[in-house]
Amino acid sequence: MEFVPSTIISLKALLSFSMLFATFATIFDFKNCEFPAIFNFGDSNSDTGGLAAAFTPPNFPNGETYFDMPAGRYCDGRLIIDFISKNLDLPYLSAYLNSLGTNFTHGANFATSSSTIIIPTSIIPNGEYSPFYLQVQYQQFLQFKARSQLIREKGGIFAKLMPQQEYFEKALYTFDIGQNDLGAGFFSMAVEEVNASVPDMITAFSTNVELVYNLGARSFWIHNTGPIGCLGYILVGFPKAEKDDAGCAKPYNEVVQYFNHKLKESVFQLRKDFPAAVFTYVDVYSLKYALFREPEKYGFELPFVACCGYGNQYNYSSSAVCGSTITINGTQKTVGSCDRPSVRVIWDGEHYTEAANKFVFDQISTGVFSDPPIPLKMACRRIADI
Ligand SMILES: *[C@@H]1O[C@H](CO)[C@@H](O)[C@H](O)[C@H]1NC(C)=O
Ligand SMILES: *[C@@H]1O[C@H](CO)[C@@H](O)[C@H](O)[C@H]1NC(C)=O
Ligand SMILES: *[C@@H]1O[C@H](CO)[C@@H](O)[C@H](O)[C@H]1NC(C)=O
Ligand SMILES: *[C@@H]1O[C@H](CO)[C@@H](O)[C@H](O)[C@H]1NC(C)=O
Repeated sequence: MEFVPSTIISLKALLSFSMLFATFATIFDFKNCEFPAIFNFGDSNSDTGGLAAAFTPPNFPNGETYFDMPAGRYCDGRLIIDFISKNLDLPYLSAYLNSLGTNFTHGANFATSSSTIIIPTSIIPNGEYSPFYLQVQYQQFLQFKARSQLIREKGGIFAKLMPQQEYFEKALYTFDIGQNDLGAGFFSMAVEEVNASVPDMITAFSTNVELVYNLGARSFWIHNTGPIGCLGYILVGFPKAEKDDAGCAKPYNEVVQYFNHKLKESVFQLRKDFPAAVFTYVDVYSLKYALFREPEKYGFELPFVACCGYGNQYNYSSSAVCGSTITINGTQKTVGSCDRPSVRVIWDGEHYTEAANKFVFDQISTGVFSDPPIPLKMACRRIADI
């Protein structure tokens, strides 16, 4: 089967392609889209406070780099979705589940950490995954769309915190989900079985995208899934896994590559089925992987070692996670962070630092890592329109 792992494609080749596109864009005067809102669906890669509001918020030092306090994100600072919001001149997204101080005038975030595409068997607080899996996130969006307009019609102080009706069609709809379906699978079944269940995950994914489309969404920005086999929690969980040249657990990343291949196929299919919409597939995998493979080239160091964690060569232990209190030789200690998170890739063994998120954002926003290669600000335009 012709399936090239995305990492093989050289960054240089992609760059020249994008410059070519940039030239086209100038010649044909491709205008920015002026998205008035963002509606996001996903997991901890884009959770701006959903799980924190529903259950327990992350502790300090989460948030130390940017917010100076924990901000509902499993990160020292901002996530890719925050950089997307900033780049589009929109405020950071409020989590739909947050009842306090939320402002939805320019969008809402339905993502929660530990979310999956498929309904999880192990659910927080007894189990490990978020009850707000993708279909629930869709149902919340469905409710949000209807009720926000009722509230606007009613007037008063809450009306001002809701998006305008026409924003729903003009908004950018972003998705970043799948990593936990694979992660949950790896801890409960054989790698081959997880791989075999990928098509079901993708079917469920595109079904939900279609439902969102049916509610009027027209611009979709879909991230693929990152190299889970490079994360401390997988490397520690499966110490015997075969490693690739970079030091990542190879079989686990191969399943991610298959997931991404099927995801890309499904995005192509959506594009065919719904020509009125624009679907952009965004390769975050290659960029995250590049940080593990050639960290120095991009100004990073110790890519496999968590900045905030405890224990072993990966500075990660599931029983001593970032911000928790542990007892070492009878003395209590809070699991804190490293001296320079700004040069580190991994924050806590499962999530990336703000610096890594910014690196990924800076690259994906140009369009170089997208299919079609359209910059973020033009993600409502079809290449065929030029
Ligand atoms: C809600 O956000 C909008 C856009 O950022 C802002 O103009 C408005 O003042 C905010 N409303 C409140 C009550 O903070
Ligand atoms: C996953 O399944 C696909 C399709 O059957 C296959 O081509 C691929 O080699 C499998 N990958 C792994 C890691 O098992
Ligand atoms: C805990 O105590 C043992 C025995 O005294 C010592 O070898 C070890 O280094 C101590 N661990 C830490 C983290 O201080
Ligand atoms: C590992 O985490 C600890 C906090 O428990 C931090 O102080 C240390 O700097 C981290 N190690 C590295 C190499 O970043």
